[in-house]
Amino acid sequence: MNELKIFSLEGKIAFVTGASGNIGKMAGRAYALHGARIVLVDIDLPGAEEVAEEICQAGAEAMELKMDVTNPAEVESVVRNVIDKYGRIDVLFNNVGIKKIDRAIERAFSLDFEGLWGCASRKLDPFDWIGFPAIR
Ligand SMILES: NC(=O)c1ccc[n+]([C@@H]2O[C@H](COP(=O)([O-])OP(=O)(O)OC[C@H]3O[C@@H](n4cnc5c(N)ncnc54)[C@H](O)[C@@H]3O)[C@@H](O)[C@H]2O)c1
Repeated sequence: MNELKIFSLEGKIAFVTGASGNIGKMAGRAYALHGARIVLVDIDLPGAEEVAEEICQAGAEAMELKMDVTNPAEVESVVRNVIDKYGRIDVLFNNVGIKKIDRAIERAFSLDFEGLWGCASRKLDPFDWIGFPAIR
């Protein structure tokens, strides 16, 4: 057995938040280059659509969905859609967060705590066990 295969992204489902921003876009492209299928989520749907189109044109598989990471109902509904379609999420790139320039405490709490934790933890329950086994 080739041990390096455990690091392969071939056929894996990669879920990227903030996917139309600088880092999210780059991550989406990079996962696609390594054979993953990409779910691009952002509050900016047209932006995510543009990235998905670019990735698909390059021959990989990508889909875009509108999702506000601070809205638990929306997170749950989007994750449910993805699990319905692919059966799992292998990689979570929990990228949305506060930038230094707007480090107001309420916004920091909303994005950095509720947003990140909301995507990665109990708010996805029961999907966290199914969708994100690696981050239990
Ligand atoms: N760019 C850098 O050099 C750098 C360096 C260190 C850390 N970071 C951190 O990495 C993260 C991403 O940085 P970036 O440069 O790609 O930012 P960006 O502003 O280019 O992209 C952020 C994306 O997140 C989306 N977004 C914002 N709020 C959202 C929400 N509530 N729900 C869903 N999507 C939302 C925006 O629409 C945008 O597409 C930030 O937390 C940033 O602080 C960036």
